[in-house]
Amino acid sequence: MKFAAIFTVLAVLGFSCLAVAQTHNYFFGTRVPYDALVNQTTVIQTGSFLRVRTRDVEYPLKGQLGRNITAIYVYDRLGGGRGGFASITSGGIGKNYTRIHLKTQRGNGMNFQVEIYGR
Ligand SMILES: *[C@@H]1O[C@H](CO)[C@@H](O)[C@H](O)[C@H]1NC(C)=O
Ligand SMILES: *[C@@H]1O[C@H](CO)[C@@H](O)[C@H](O)[C@H]1NC(C)=O
Ligand SMILES: *[C@@H]1O[C@H](CO)[C@@H](O)[C@H](O)[C@H]1NC(C)=O
Repeated sequence: MKFAAIFTVLAVLGFSCLAVAQTHNYFFGTRVPYDALVNQTTVIQTGSFLRVRTRDVEYPLKGQLGRNITAIYVYDRLGGGRGGFASITSGGIGKNYTRIHLKTQRGNGMNFQVEIYGR
C-alpha cells in the first residue's frame, strides 16, 4: 500500500520531468493590453546527419516599419525533446525590430511557430 503510493509519486514526478523535457518553447517578454500579433511564421527544417542547422527570423520585412515589440513566443512543434533552440540576436522586446536565431540540435530538425506581438 505504502509502496504503491511512493511508486505513484515517483511515476508522477518522472512523468512531469519528461513533459518538461519534451518541448523547447521559448517565451520572451509579456503581452500587454492593445498589443497585436504583428507577425506569425512557421519555420520547418529537416534534420541533417550530424549537422546543426540555423535559421533567422527577422521582423519587420525590409523597408517596412515595425511596431514596438511586447512579446515573442516561440512554440516547438517538433516535441519529444528533439526541438531546437531560440535566441534573440538583435532588437527584441521594447524595440521596433528583431532578429530571432533558431538552431537545431545536432542531427535533428526544427519546427518552430514564431509569434511576434507589438503595440
Ligand atoms: C512574417 O515574417 C516572415 C519571416 O520574416 C515573412 O516571410 C512573412 O512574410 C512575414 N509576414 C507578414 C505578414 O509580415
Ligand atoms: C524604429 O523607430 C525609430 C525611431 O522611432 C525609427 O527611426 C525607425 O525607422 C524604426 N524602425 C523600424 C524598422 O520600424
Ligand atoms: C516601446 O515601449 C516601451 C514600453 O512602453 C518603451 O519603454 C519604449 O521606449 C518603446 N520603444 C519604442 C521604440 O517606441
